[in-house]
Amino acid sequence: MPEFEQLLEATIRHVESLKAEGVLTLPVDQAVVGELMRPLVRSAPRGSQSPPRHEGVGRAFPSSQAGPASSEFDGERLTGEAKAQAIVHLQERAMACVKCSHLVRSRRNVVFGVGTHDAELMFVGEAPGMDEDAQGEPFVGKAGQLLTRIIETMGLSREQVYIGNVLKCRPDTPGRRYGNRKPTPQEMVTCRPFLMEQIRIIQPRVLVALGATAVEGLMGVSSVAITRYRGEFRELKGIPVMPTYHPSYVLRNQSLPIKRQIWEDMLKVMARLGMPISEKQQGYFTPPKR
Ligand code: URA
Repeated sequence: MPEFEQLLEATIRHVESLKAEGVLTLPVDQAVVGELMRPLVRSAPRGSQSPPRHEGVGRAFPSSQAGPASSEFDGERLTGEAKAQAIVHLQERAMACVKCSHLVRSRRNVVFGVGTHDAELMFVGEAPGMDEDAQGEPFVGKAGQLLTRIIETMGLSREQVYIGNVLKCRPDTPGRRYGNRKPTPQEMVTCRPFLMEQIRIIQPRVLVALGATAVEGLMGVSSVAITRYRGEFRELKGIPVMPTYHPSYVLRNQSLPIKRQIWEDMLKVMARLGMPISEKQQGYFTPPKR
């Protein structure tokens, strides 16, 4: 185990034992916190920094038909360098987060997000799985490959959108090496401020919530039945949210009607963003004519 992780592990154990003894606050020098965070920032995993904005990336759609020009998120709307700095600063804080000590112990990476901070379209998933935890990037496993295909079928690339999760750490599965578990409501409440701050900084014109858990974590609601909830825009502080199926659900249910439903949701998103939709795109996953 690298020296930094050993120190982190020891620090967490020490803080937990103090907490068990009833110590609820600790005086910590700001300079120490800054120093502790430095190695984490240097080792930010690939893809987690927003690439520099260039032609054709990010705000690439006509704005007239898109969502609201400004959302109801508090604070100023950031642009340019201030926006880039804000997202890097938020990433530093997420990488140093130790609020869920059980997840800190099991995680290999904090999976912050990937894409451009100028994205018009932001996808929100549930939580990193095993592949994402290993690589430090959201949606890189099988479900991620399907999400990438969906994005590309819309005529975009992963670099032109932003992809994040409700939880930035992989939910632990004690005693099991494989498989995933749903984030607990407590974990989602604890991590939600990072997601909300990501959205406040990026200010996408449209959000897509992938699956019931993402809808619950993003919108702060419970017991969502995604089959009934999907396909209609909701709103989060002035930003339109399209709830749809999680790609892993589509992988498990590869029927034409399910594929058509998720695709129809994406067609609505494209229309909302004022993106051109070809006849070919319009007709994907419709039953063959007899
Ligand atoms: N599923 C998710 O919800 N998020 C990921 O990043 C990967 C799989």
